[in-house]
Order: sequence, then C-alpha cells, then structure tokens
Amino acid sequence: MSPSHPAPDARADLISYLDFHVEAGVDAALDEAPHDRFGEAEAAAPPREPPPRRAAPPASAPASAPDDASPFRRELPSRDPAPKEPPRTYGNAASAKPGEAADDARARAAQMQTLEELEALLRGFEGCGLRFTAKNLVFADGNPQARVMFVGEAPGADEDRIGKPFMGRSGQLLDRMMAAIGLDRTGAYITNVVPWRPPGNRNPTPQEIAICRPFIERQIELADPELLVCLGAPATQTLTGTKDGILKARGRFYPYILRDGREIKALATLHPAYLLRQPVQKRLAWRDFRMLKAALDGGR
Ligand code: URA
Repeated sequence: MSPSHPAPDARADLISYLDFHVEAGVDAALDEAPHDRFGEAEAAAPPREPPPRRAAPPASAPASAPDDASPFRRELPSRDPAPKEPPRTYGNAASAKPGEAADDARARAAQMQTLEELEALLRGFEGCGLRFTAKNLVFADGNPQARVMFVGEAPGADEDRIGKPFMGRSGQLLDRMMAAIGLDRTGAYITNVVPWRPPGNRNPTPQEIAICRPFIERQIELADPELLVCLGAPATQTLTGTKDGILKARGRFYPYILRDGREIKALATLHPAYLLRQPVQKRLAWRDFRMLKAALDGGR
C-alpha cells in the first residue's frame, strides 16, 4: 500500500468521518487548523455601539386575533436540493480586526447614494470573511420601491447559489405568507442583515453582524420603505436593539429612526425557517402578518 493511499480500514474510517461532517452541515473547509473565533473576536471586539436609533419601547401590543387559523399551512418541497460545495480557504480579510472593518464599512456605506452603488460597494468589500467562503453576494430581491421591506438573517445554500434572498424552502413559505395578505415580490423588497452565506449555514457571529450592519442600515435608508419586517431574532435584535428573544419580541412594532430623523415602524415576527421546524407557531406569524396588513391598509 503506498503511503498516499490509506489502508482499507483507515479509508472507511475517513469516509465515515467525512460523512459525519457533511450530515452535520459542515460543507466548507476554512483552514487546516481550528480557530477560536469567539476568543479572537473578544480580544479585538469593537466597543459595542449603543442602538440610539432603535431600542425604544414597542409602539403597540400584539393584536388579539379572533381568527387564528394560519393560512400558511401547506408545505412545499424544496425547489432545489442543497448543492455540495468545494472546500474554500479564507483570504487575508478573515484576520482583519472586526472593529476596523465595521468602521470602514460605515464610512463607505454612508457615501453610497443609490442601491446600485451600495451593491457595487458590497461586491468589492473584503472586510467580512464570509465573502470568501460564499459563492455569491446576496443583495436583495423584489421591488426596491415597495412600501414594505422584509429583512432576514443571512442567505442559505439556495440563496448563495442563486444570488437572491429567500429562494429555498423558507423563501417559498415567505412567499405564501406574503400572498396571504395580498403581497408578492413585486410589492415587497427583501434582503438580509448579512449578505453572504455563513459556511455550513451556521449563524453569523456578532462580529460579522457588526461589520455588515452599516450596509443593511444604508440599504434601508436608500430603499426608504414605510414599514420594515424583521424576520427572526437576529434581524429583530440588529434593527430594533431589543435583547428579547423572538417569541417575546414578535407581534410588536418598534420605532426605527432614519438618519434624517424620520421614523418608520419595524414589525418583529418569526422567521419562516423556524415556522418550518415549528409549524404550530404559524398562527403567531399569521397574527403578525395581519398586523402588517392593517398597517399597510391604514397607511394609505
Ligand atoms: N434565511 C434567511 O434569513 N435569509 C434567506 O435569504 C434565506 C433563508
């Protein structure tokens, strides 16, 4: 047996080891040795920004819902199976200090005057390590002139492959939820807090969110919607400043103050991916979407 070919037993062990990782969702090799990213980030963490523009008390309490039966019931098969990705390695930007990258992102985002400019800026931005493991930038889908803007957490495998947000099973459910209140992607603008897929669908780290936050904030300013909908805890916490878990935070409108001082409303609700795992909670999301519909109808 040549040294480059493991013995049959070792080979079987290696294959089952790799299978274990693939099943666990590890589909991108980032480096040869493990890193404690949380330890590194704590050492270099930027001073936490207060959320001056958000974090205010809820503007309204959850609506009572005489009609709780959720219309989002039918589950659809995945549009596309998750693709297998070749391993990639990090570029140098992965070791950039998160505080510096966030400052750089904020300064550059502020200069962008259109959504097209902001997208072009993101295509060239190297301050977030996620861009080196992602296949595509996932900037937005839908109508940037729409009155309502939905913000999710981060792209998954389908979105990464296609380059648009909410394309997989969560996206199909989101489409059905929107359809239940008369919306489709021509009447809504859709994006995420983080525009690159975290490898293996892990959650984005607080540092990655801090780096990407100036971009989503500028995207909101430039799209200038009347209403924001935060899908899930990361979007809700990032955009409203609340520290509450999503089951407590949902069903409320929070004030979101734009840089020019105008206030828009941000509704917190459950993420479609959570609803796919916990279908019984769709009734709560249906309450939230009826609040959204009432706000859209009342704001005319
Ligand atoms: N989940 C998200 O938060 N965003 C997407 O685009 C897809 C799934």
